[in-house]
Parts: sequence; structure tokens; C-alpha cells
Amino acid sequence: MSDPLFTDDTPEAPDGLGPTGRPLPAFPPPPPPREGAKKALVIALCNQKGGVGKTTTTINLGAALAETGRRVLLVDFDPQGSLSVGLGVNPHNLDRSIYNLLLGRNVDTADVILPTRTPNLDLLPANIDLSAAEVQLVSEVAREQTLRRVLRPVRNVYDVILIDCAPSLGLLTVNALTAADRVLMPLELEFFALRGIALLTDTIEKVQERLNPDLEILGILGTMFDSRTIHGREVLERAVEAFGDDVFHTVIRRTIKFPETTVAGEPITSYASSSPGAAAYRQLAREVLVRCPGA
Ligand SMILES: Nc1ncnc2c1ncn2[C@@H]1O[C@H](COP(=O)(O)OP(=O)(O)OP(=O)(O)O)[C@@H](O)[C@H]1O
Ligand SMILES: [Mg+2]
Repeated sequence: MSDPLFTDDTPEAPDGLGPTGRPLPAFPPPPPPREGAKKALVIALCNQKGGVGKTTTTINLGAALAETGRRVLLVDFDPQGSLSVGLGVNPHNLDRSIYNLLLGRNVDTADVILPTRTPNLDLLPANIDLSAAEVQLVSEVAREQTLRRVLRPVRNVYDVILIDCAPSLGLLTVNALTAADRVLMPLELEFFALRGIALLTDTIEKVQERLNPDLEILGILGTMFDSRTIHGREVLERAVEAFGDDVFHTVIRRTIKFPETTVAGEPITSYASSSPGAAAYRQLAREVLVRCPGA
């Protein structure tokens, strides 16, 4: 725990500014979920760079939203199956996975969804079979709309659906962006990380033009923040210069607790409920709900 790379509680800036250099607004407690018929808000978590916190954010934002009483579905859309593993599911032991929904006929989405140990939080699991889907989909009609079709029958069951993308801009990620209403981009606070965001926003624009005109950017989330190094702050400052209020006020700090939760197979909100990492994802959930008032 004394590893200097990992720190939990760093002091707020003395001038009252948040870690992004802007005044930190107060985020109101989340309103209860809407009553009556549901129509899930679908959020894709994308960044073609590996290891930037997509899966960690999917699990922990999902769990924090589920704590508010919302019904949340997490979609593992990465052949690595890390989301499934992070929720305690062994991807090798699956009878059926998202692969069967993408390419099979006569398989119901609801029959592939698994409950998790977290109340209100369900999982659509994946495993290495999904890498074959990427190849096989190429010859399908409306190949970019396949995930959208798979999710359609369960949109009225959930308040929020989060899609954990693989680190690529290939056909699977285009499917995720075509199925989504919003896209959340985790940004590892390291040098050169911003270049990757520019490439990603190019892809988002193409999808908006050709496939999904309703797609909007939900926000850019700084991850792996270490306030004791200068460059984390610099990258955040430059992100705010380039992308303005698209950058979330909430920033996720680097802490060993996150790798620990993967081993434990559960979200930080239950593994270390009163830790700063859990608090950060609860704040992110509030910030997301402010940006998406209907969700
Ligand atoms: N805030 C954090 N502090 C410390 N470690 C973190 C943090 N967020 C994620 N990690 C760890 O970093 C590694 C990569 O995180 P994660 O799997 O969430 O990234 P990813 O973008 O989904 O990766 P991939 O592109 O391979 O799917 C994991 O071991 C995870 O536990
Ligand atoms: Mg991942």
C-alpha cells in the first residue's frame, strides 16, 4: 500500500478549484428512477487505447447507478471478457454469450443475461468467441446495426445500459457506437493520451454522419490521476482547453483498490464501499445523471 504509484486521498486544491482546474459544482443527490415504462439510455464506453479504465468505469459507474435504484445492464463487448471476469463470471464456462445473440437466430437476449451479486445490476457476458463475430459479421446485412438489434428487446427493462468496448475502432466498436445514445471516453492522464481522443472523435463523427445521427458525446473522464505528478494536471488542463465542458469534473484517481476489486470480482462500491474510489464513481453517477436528466 505504500507504493507511491498508488494513492487514495490527495487533498483538494487550496483555491477551491476541482482537479480539472474549474470550480467544482455541487452535484445534487440523484433523483429516483422514472416510473412507468422504461426506455434505457445506452452509453458506450470507448477508447481504442488499451488499459485506460473502460472496464473499471463500466463496472463501477454501473454499480453506482444501480445503487440509486436504477436497473442497469452491463454489456461485455470485448472478446477479452474482462467485464465478465470483473463481475465474478468465468467466461470459459458460459453456455451462451453475446456471440450467440449477434450471430445466432432464435436466441433471446433476456436468456443470455446473467444477474450479478449487486442488486439491480445485470450482465450480458462475452468471451473469446466474440473475436470470431467480428470476422463473421462482415458479410452480414446491416452489420453495423447488429448490437442495436440485440439490445432492442431489453431496452424497456433497464434504465441504463453500459457497453464496455474493446480497445479498437473496428466493427465491434462501430456496432457499440451505432447502438448507443451517448459515448463516454475514459482518458488516461498520461502524455500523448489526447491524440487518441482526437482519433476517436473522428470515428464518432463518421458514425454520427452515416449510421447514428442521435449519438452524442456524454463526456471525457480523466482516469489514473495522480495529483502529485505535474503531468496528470497538465493533461487535464489541455483536455479542458481542447474539449471544454465535455470533460467531466469528476476525476478518477489512481489507487491499488481497483486492481483488487477485479480479483474480488465485485464493484468497488461494495468491495470498499467507503473508499475514495467508491465515492468518485458515485459522484460520476451523479454527474452523468445531471447530463442525462431523463435517465
Ligand atoms: N483508477 C485506477 N487506479 C489504478 N488502477 C486502475 C484504475 N483504473 C483501472 N485500473 C487498473 O488498470 C488496468 C486496466 O484497467 P481497465 O481494465 O479498466 O482498462 P480498459 O480500458 O478496460 O482495458 P482494455 O483496453 O484492455 O479493455 C486494470 O488492471 C485495472 O484494475
Ligand atoms: Mg476493458
